[in-house]
Amino acid sequence: MQSRLQELKQAALTRLAEVTDAQQLQELRVKYLGKKGELTEILRGMGSLSAAERPLIGQLVNQVRSELEAAIADKQAALEQASLAARLAAEALDVTLPGRPLARGTMHPLSRVIEQAEDIFLGLGFEVAEGPEVELDHFNFEMLNIPKNHPARDMQDSFYITEEILLRTQTSPVQARTLLRKEGKTPVKIICPGKVYRRDDDDATHSHQFTQIEGLVVDKGIRMSDLKGTLLTFARQMFGEHQQIRLRPSFFPFTEPSVEVDIQCILCGGEGCRICKHTGWIEILGAGMVHPRVLEMGGYNPREVSGFAFGMGVERIAMLRYGIEDIRHFYTNDVRFLRQFHRVQGGTGR
Ligand code: DAH
Repeated sequence: MQSRLQELKQAALTRLAEVTDAQQLQELRVKYLGKKGELTEILRGMGSLSAAERPLIGQLVNQVRSELEAAIADKQAALEQASLAARLAAEALDVTLPGRPLARGTMHPLSRVIEQAEDIFLGLGFEVAEGPEVELDHFNFEMLNIPKNHPARDMQDSFYITEEILLRTQTSPVQARTLLRKEGKTPVKIICPGKVYRRDDDDATHSHQFTQIEGLVVDKGIRMSDLKGTLLTFARQMFGEHQQIRLRPSFFPFTEPSVEVDIQCILCGGEGCRICKHTGWIEILGAGMVHPRVLEMGGYNPREVSGFAFGMGVERIAMLRYGIEDIRHFYTNDVRFLRQFHRVQGGTGR
């Protein structure tokens, strides 16, 4: 019996040494230590032993069992260690490899100018308003004191959808919409950036679609000097703190009096050059005191309140600020153009 046990132990240890995976190990455990395994069988055979032998053999069986159990546990630990090492080797990362560069986009120069203008006007207490690009003739013209057959409608050849509906030719209809929305309350103090459409032939300075920023202020006692101060502040924050502006008389049906506003040429600083046609000044927007008819149609009493309005072309401002010579660059989305705005900072550091 003793020698059978020794043989069994030897055989088990030899096979254990040959085991290479968890499944073989499990089979071996069952074969020797399981309920129907070889050790159990020996225990069962103990009935035939003498009373003196039984405790001795019993002890020996237990000893062999615990030796085998320990050996199997060791083997299991060794197998787990090996498989972990194999996995680590297979999944090894070289953290010193350089990363793949991400192509980062950049803000479009028009969006950038709009954002800067919004910043400036928000700082002056304005709100940002919006209006539809597909607009009623009523708001685009009528409510702005531009009746049917008015010559101003010729100046702005328009994309009509029906007789009464068109693509807005200016952001000024938002003035009328805002006045109605405010229902006679003051103050009204909004800007409205947005796209506008005209039947122009595209060239270096014209586009059938472009961007404007409208401004409108209505309150008691608003004067021309408020318009001038607001626009001077805007010009200095947008183009540099020493900027000067110049107001020239002009005409718009929805303002009276009307002006065109120039800034000093940002290229020559007023000396006179090709860009400013040797005048030293460059026009950037139209403006004026809101026409009493426009206030009236908007539900305000022109004897109680007054206001100013302005409208500027965003492309023009972006072209001046960034020295862009062709308006079409804004719309063709050539990355060689757009990439140049990665690090562009404005004159104000915005
Ligand atoms: N809407 C005018 C245009 O498109 C620009 C303009 C001029 C807007 C004077 C105004 C203004 O609000 O007061 O040419």
